[in-house]
Amino acid sequence: MMLKDSLPKIVTEELPGPKAKEVLERRKNVVPDAVRCIYPCVMEKAEGAMIEDVDGNIFLDWIGGVGVLNVGHTHPDLVSAVQEQATKYFHGMFNVVTHERYIELAEKLAAVAPVNGDAKKVMFANSGAEADENAVKIAKGYTKRPNIIVFTGGFHGRTMLTMTMTAKKAYAHGMGPFPDGVYRAEYPYLYRKPEGMTEEAAIDYYVNSLKMVFENASPAEYVAAIVLEPLQGEGGFIPAPIEWIKAVRSICDKEGILMVADEVQTGFARTGKLFASEYWKEAGCAPDIIATAKSIAGGVPLSAVITSTEIMDAVPKGTIGGTYGGNALACAAGLKVLEVIERDHLVERSAEIGKRCFEVFGSWKEKYEVVGDVRGLGAMIGIEFVKDKTTKEPNAQIVNELVAACAQKGLLIENAGIYGNVIRFLAPLVITDEQLEAGFEIFENAIKEAI
Ligand SMILES: Cc1ncc(COP(=O)(O)O)c(C=O)c1O
Repeated sequence: MMLKDSLPKIVTEELPGPKAKEVLERRKNVVPDAVRCIYPCVMEKAEGAMIEDVDGNIFLDWIGGVGVLNVGHTHPDLVSAVQEQATKYFHGMFNVVTHERYIELAEKLAAVAPVNGDAKKVMFANSGAEADENAVKIAKGYTKRPNIIVFTGGFHGRTMLTMTMTAKKAYAHGMGPFPDGVYRAEYPYLYRKPEGMTEEAAIDYYVNSLKMVFENASPAEYVAAIVLEPLQGEGGFIPAPIEWIKAVRSICDKEGILMVADEVQTGFARTGKLFASEYWKEAGCAPDIIATAKSIAGGVPLSAVITSTEIMDAVPKGTIGGTYGGNALACAAGLKVLEVIERDHLVERSAEIGKRCFEVFGSWKEKYEVVGDVRGLGAMIGIEFVKDKTTKEPNAQIVNELVAACAQKGLLIENAGIYGNVIRFLAPLVITDEQLEAGFEIFENAIKEAI
């Protein structure tokens, strides 16, 4: 049986197995401790939603490289596309020589990205943080304004600017001073809305929190952009309610501020749409700029900023770009990712996987006191664990136990959330039904054992 069709199977007496243990020991010696890893899995090869380790153990991957592997590990079409490109050239440097894959991918992304504007342009970079940072630079270049607004729970990366934009300061300990001009409003975390408020009142409350930034930190006419994740990833898999998005859009329109969607984790079929901003567009509140990365090229480093030609071309010459942006191997992979998503109906598959996850996780919410909330869009789903449903006290401890226990049984799951008490579902969208069910079984057994 091919690895991609296998089910999780642990064959060594303990995990990590002997070969993995040896590699992990070596890792300790040369890899910074700050680059954390708590998993016992050392990869030998991977296909679809499955990883085989160096000892022959088979893991089911529900993390997908943290949202990078929507089309699965080593998709054969992607492998061929990258191999074919590698025989021609790896790299050209786009300020020096033009390569057609860059243009072709830019054309395709411009055609499908749900950003405002008729004509669109695309700029490529290498990581999510770079895409976000460039999106901010582009917004500043267009508006000629200095400040931006971001949100509680937001995660945008680890460069100086994106570390500043990221809410959780555990990601920025000892790294200051930070750039000025980054102000924060409250993100609509409805599960933890102020006690006793209706959802409607809470949305007004969160909109007001945004407007207060204009009073307390930066007058609106100095704000270039409001940067938000359509569905917060690291912050705990929290979808932004559409009524709140509509209000943000109207504030942006009134004040001449650009609305930037950070679709680094939500892009490329993850949420049941190619981009989560399609939900916004359908509701009449499309963003002005999309920054995206992760699954864009299925594991080859690539990121993109997509916006209208009017906005993009207002940026002063020489202020954006970089050596590797739009690298030829990455663009070849990116083109194939779009083709595979369309041909294999991965947007529809994402919605289908999400529906099944909601059924199963929803039933756990009924059964288990520790499962406080199940939320998400398409196949981007979070389960928030609490000590009890009434107090909603975050339960990071059980989440840590579940992550460790599931790994021991061959299921890789990861935490998220400002309290570290959310489990995120980010399995490759090529996961088979059988693999999905096998994952549910391991996960539920771990919950039963942990409570
Ligand atoms: C929403 C979001 N923005 C930005 C980033 C940063 O991306 P990268 O790690 O590629 O710099 C991430 C990474 O998790 C993310 O989830």
